[in-house]
Amino acid sequence: MPVIACIDDLKTLYRRKVPKMFYDYCEQGSYSEQTFHDNVQDFRQIRLRQRVARDISLRTTDTTMIGTKVAMPVALAPIGSCGMQAADGEIKAARAAAAFGVPFTLSTMSVCSIEDVAAASPDPFWFQLYVMRDEDFVDALIERARKARCSALVLTLDLQILGQRHKDVRNGLSTPPRLTLPNMIDMAFRPEWSFGMLGTPRRTFRNIVGHARNVSNLEQLSTWANGQFDPKLDWAKVVRIRDQWQGKFILKGVLDAEDARMAADAGADAIVVSNHGGRQLDGALSTIRVLPQIARAVGDRTEVWLDGGIRTGQDILKALALGAKSTLIGRSYVYGLGAMGQAGVTKALEVLQSELDITMALCGVQNARDIGPEHVLVPQDFEGRWRT
Ligand SMILES: Cc1cc2nc3c(=O)[nH]c(=O)nc-3n(C[C@H](O)[C@H](O)[C@H](O)COP(=O)(O)O)c2cc1C
Repeated sequence: MPVIACIDDLKTLYRRKVPKMFYDYCEQGSYSEQTFHDNVQDFRQIRLRQRVARDISLRTTDTTMIGTKVAMPVALAPIGSCGMQAADGEIKAARAAAAFGVPFTLSTMSVCSIEDVAAASPDPFWFQLYVMRDEDFVDALIERARKARCSALVLTLDLQILGQRHKDVRNGLSTPPRLTLPNMIDMAFRPEWSFGMLGTPRRTFRNIVGHARNVSNLEQLSTWANGQFDPKLDWAKVVRIRDQWQGKFILKGVLDAEDARMAADAGADAIVVSNHGGRQLDGALSTIRVLPQIARAVGDRTEVWLDGGIRTGQDILKALALGAKSTLIGRSYVYGLGAMGQAGVTKALEVLQSELDITMALCGVQNARDIGPEHVLVPQDFEGRWRT
């Protein structure tokens, strides 16, 4: 078993274990990747305030997200094609999250279906919805999530059209991969991944194939998926979906204070300040930079969460200090999944919790719920250099 000291160690191992096409799919942003890199780099500009001689013997990272107790302020973000990072990847991630005590979010574009994960996961999970043009298909997805006892619907708002990721174009990305000579050579050098995939029937988008009209093979699937994201999605439709769902409702992909207010007006129980991990609007600000103004704009009308660029427990503390009640992680857990399957996701969560706990201690905080602006040092112009 390799020694894993931090999330970067999982990433190094992940790169060795998973075919290049799927590593690249994860480890990239759209176009020039400016926003993708800023998400990580901007955390580095914030510094932590060291405090001493405080009783830090009774620490806890426990908190709540939309009323549910969680072991730390982290949920697993929705990841498309997660089941291509490791065989049955969504099931493995859901099980690791349940055992650890944090929420797991299943993507619309998952490999394992809602029903697959519901049958295999001990706890209810959240379902992330992409609004598609085919309204019957969307209605059916919402119904399937309800039947599977999903405990929240996460509606993603920042992907009405796809930002281009150059590596996917160059690699000819598909799920499952096409059996071209370069792909076959790549897979031959990743035997654990390949045997895992041969051992599971779950190798395509199982929420879609067999459910959407006229989608039964790979060619039909890619044509369908490329043309299906609904460019007409607006706030009226968001409210209609909320009314249709009726349960806990989370709006993901908010990056603007005005949109955040509208999301609160639309009745969101939580919003996720997110730019899709830098995979959509290249040139948008990093999430940590816009977080303070969004937190101020909505106050306590809705819970404010952040994702994008979280690779350490220190990052989690910084996000909480700047106004987030909780966070979501994407790549940090995908690295673990690709590196070591379910055990790797658990490892990623353990690493982040331990880093958060020790960082809290060194900042003199006992309870993750008490993290506030007084625990960080923020450059004076961190928010202020940008004008519309
Ligand atoms: C490989 C990959 C696939 C993703 N697929 C989805 C998806 O299907 N639905 C969605 O709402 N967000 C998706 N996202 C965005 C994540 O939910 C999350 O916003 C992002 O990963 C956070 O940034 P981080 O990876 O730096 O933590 C995806 C991100 C990655 C890296």
